[in-house]
Amino acid sequence: AGGSVSECKEYLFKVLVIGELGVGKTSIIKRYVHQLFSQHYRATIGVDFALKVINWDSKTLVRLQLWDIAGKAARLGPLANLLHSSSLRMMFTGQINQRGTFDLSNRELHWLDLKSKNANGSQAPWVLLSNKLDLKRSTSRGSTLTHYFCYIFGLKRWCISSFQDNINVDEAARFLVENILAND
Ligand code: GTP
Ligand code: MG
Repeated sequence: AGGSVSECKEYLFKVLVIGELGVGKTSIIKRYVHQLFSQHYRATIGVDFALKVINWDSKTLVRLQLWDIAGKAARLGPLANLLHSSSLRMMFTGQINQRGTFDLSNRELHWLDLKSKNANGSQAPWVLLSNKLDLKRSTSRGSTLTHYFCYIFGLKRWCISSFQDNINVDEAARFLVENILAND
């Protein structure tokens, strides 16, 4: 009668971080993975990667491969072939005081919709962030827009965040992982 070897499950998930130029895509990754923030802006060129390892619970190890993509969602067009997959998990970041950062063309919406569908037609988990809360006292307009965006996508979760002040960074990531694990 032997004790059973405790089974540890390991997962690797790809998460795209997308959104308009300068909204904070690189910053959320830096904050989340390296606990750092810099006010210095250096635009990402192409794609960067970072790996976050999470001891989710005593039996579950999760590796998040974070894809930090430069600029707008539109530029994902050619990248789509590289990714060649559906079921993409995403964090979409907009900037709370810049309405335009939530505007997507029909083409972009179509691409995002297509790529975030699972094989069975269900929606892969997403999280939407409305960032730079610290820049804005009144958040009412930003949250209305964000609500609207979530409504279009049927998103379950959005957050108003500040990567500078470390508000809702871990929470957003935790929500995403919870949903990925629940869908898997
Ligand atoms: P691209 O790579 O060009 O697409 O930009 P990005 O989305 O990666 O933006 P990045 O993370 O480089 O941030 C752009 C600027 O916004 C930098 O100067 C950051 O310091 C600043 N920034 C990011 N998050 C916040 C925030 O929550 N509050 C404030 N005040 N500034 C922020
Ligand atoms: Mg960047």
